[in-house]
Amino acid sequence: MCMKICQNEPIIEDWVSTVGDVSEPIVVMGICGSYDLDSANGRMLEIMLEECEALGAETVIWDHGSYPLPLVGAEGCWEDENVKGFQEMAISADAFVLSSPEYHGTMSGVMKNSLDWLYSKHTSGKVFGLICTLGGQSSNNTLNHMRIAARWIHGWVTPEQVAVPNIKHAFEEDGSLVDESIKSRVSDMASSIVHNTVKLRR
Ligand SMILES: Cc1cc2nc3c(=O)[nH]c(=O)nc-3n(C[C@H](O)[C@H](O)[C@H](O)COP(=O)(O)O)c2cc1C
Repeated sequence: MCMKICQNEPIIEDWVSTVGDVSEPIVVMGICGSYDLDSANGRMLEIMLEECEALGAETVIWDHGSYPLPLVGAEGCWEDENVKGFQEMAISADAFVLSSPEYHGTMSGVMKNSLDWLYSKHTSGKVFGLICTLGGQSSNNTLNHMRIAARWIHGWVTPEQVAVPNIKHAFEEDGSLVDESIKSRVSDMASSIVHNTVKLRR
């Protein structure tokens, strides 16, 4: 339901000897803080998850545009089928990538409401990687706020994180990132997510 799955080669053999059973590929779930995946944050998730796939992970993305989540507390929300699908996808995931636009100095409402639907029973002991995009200059506010929320649902947030400032100028026409230092941060974070997820799943 509402996901993209990619399978790749098993995680590099070196790890098998050092981190135990990795016969089952890890699953990384992307959660977008913009409603539409055809957005800067949708594109950042795609780029990050492609890097995770190159390291042997399977990936899935929740599509808010096609399967919107009701606000927590809205009428009928506790029986909502999209919420059930979202939580089941989270249970099946070993790690998460959160990518949110900065809105008024913090994460978007879409991202906060998504996190409000996740409890420690879905996320406890799982790795989180964080991305934020900004219309203006770089800032850690949204990243820090998502770090606090992920901690509250017992996630292990990687120290690596990615902020993409001046978002209107961040992508080439083909959708690749303009800035080499941001590309390198994306690679470092993907590596940290996959390696640390394998370690935690030992
Ligand atoms: C309601 C609103 C508030 C915003 N607040 C900020 C802000 O505080 N700082 C900033 O740099 N950009 C701000 N922006 C710009 C967004 O961060 C930018 O449009 C977004 O990162 C683009 O990502 P998207 O294509 O995934 O929506 C704001 C945009 C909106 C719509």
